[in-house]
Amino acid sequence: MKTIRISDVEQYDGQEVAIQGWMYNKRGSGKIYFLQVRDGSGMIQGVAAEGEASEEVMKAAEELTMESSVRIMGPVSKHPKWAGVYEMQIKKIEVVHLCTEEYPISKKEHGPDFLLDNRHLWLRSKKQWAIQRVRNTIINATYEYFAQNGFIKIDTPILTPNACEGTTELFEVPYFEENSAYLAQSGQLYLEAAIMSHGRAFDFGPVFRAEKSKTRRHLTEFWMMDAEAAFVEHEENMKIQEELVCHIVAKVLEKNQPELKVLERDVEALKKVKAPFIRKTHTEVIAELKEMGSDIGEMDDLGADDETMLTKKYDKPIFVEKYPSAVKAFYMKRDPEDDSRALCSDLLAPEGYGEIIGGSQREDSYDVLMERIKEHDLDPKVFDWYLDLRKYGSVPHSGFGYGLERITGWISGTHHIRETIPFPRMISRLTP
Ligand code: 4AD
Ligand code: MG
Repeated sequence: MKTIRISDVEQYDGQEVAIQGWMYNKRGSGKIYFLQVRDGSGMIQGVAAEGEASEEVMKAAEELTMESSVRIMGPVSKHPKWAGVYEMQIKKIEVVHLCTEEYPISKKEHGPDFLLDNRHLWLRSKKQWAIQRVRNTIINATYEYFAQNGFIKIDTPILTPNACEGTTELFEVPYFEENSAYLAQSGQLYLEAAIMSHGRAFDFGPVFRAEKSKTRRHLTEFWMMDAEAAFVEHEENMKIQEELVCHIVAKVLEKNQPELKVLERDVEALKKVKAPFIRKTHTEVIAELKEMGSDIGEMDDLGADDETMLTKKYDKPIFVEKYPSAVKAFYMKRDPEDDSRALCSDLLAPEGYGEIIGGSQREDSYDVLMERIKEHDLDPKVFDWYLDLRKYGSVPHSGFGYGLERITGWISGTHHIRETIPFPRMISRLTP
């Protein structure tokens, strides 16, 4: 008998197959049992009815407990009433492992701490399952977009001698005699070196920030995708981001309808994610926020609350351009029309989600970059190699980075990004 995955079940309509997985739920008693079995690819209902199923099957169905692992065998067919749903008339049950202890996560409500303590089990719950699958589509769509657009994948280091995104949020680790290393906050600086060899490149990996922020948008370890391109300036940089995000959302809509349903995600909202996105300058946004009652200052960075308030107004992603350079990183090129501002953009996701991408054109002049490094109190010695890129064939170039958990949070409609990473790391959580 063929063992199939539940996601392929419609190809086997009317045939006897085996399905192996875990007991998600059980209803019925005595005369008839409905076993909900999940195998990772989907869920199926197995039916064991007295008279039709053997006594052995009925006994096994009775004994099976939640999350026990099983192999069930029998013919599969379309559910008589529910479209798209398949059922198996169970002929045989093999119990792979019977849970004798009660599964800790029940159908009743649990608090977030309990669920996070049991993250290793919580991952099996329907909603958590759906979120990881959306995340996986986002990863695949990202690789696909870059492969189709001439970006090659370059793996940047995690142990680094210097800061990328400011020195206050660095994790320092001992590195042999007398030395310290820092866990990477972004691979960007290394990608800048790589594009002088390849023209266009991206990385995708874990990054670390000793963030003191305890918000629904912050983790201390998260996954970032950085992209960088030579001869690309600020405008084109935003165009690439817009295309990438549209590609990602379209792929999720194509591949993850069952997951979006589990998540009760408003699919109509996702369908609106089409180019062109909304574009506003930082100055315009400050004025808009003030009108909405915020007490934000003219040259302030946007806070989490500001982003929430602003993005709740819109149903498309919003580029906020040209932030004051004082609130942004040292490597950003200044706006030639206003030296107090950077040629940068943050992309904010709608529906209150806020920043998902940070990007900018990079400073390409050796002298100006040296000045910035000193202004930011950084040690020029550790940036020797980075400055070299401005010595040998410097070109205008730009790039951006997205936070995978932030994008996943928005697209899956998950309020707190801790649910979008398999094992979240936050100030007060390092386990499991
Ligand atoms: O805006 P950020 O700090 O930009 C950079 O690191 C640039 N070097 C990227 C580049 O230009 N290549 O971070 C990029 C993105 C943010 O927009 C956000 O989505 C995410 O990373 N991010 C976080 N996600 C979760 N937890 C945190 N603590 C995050 N900090 C940033
Ligand atoms: Mg940012």
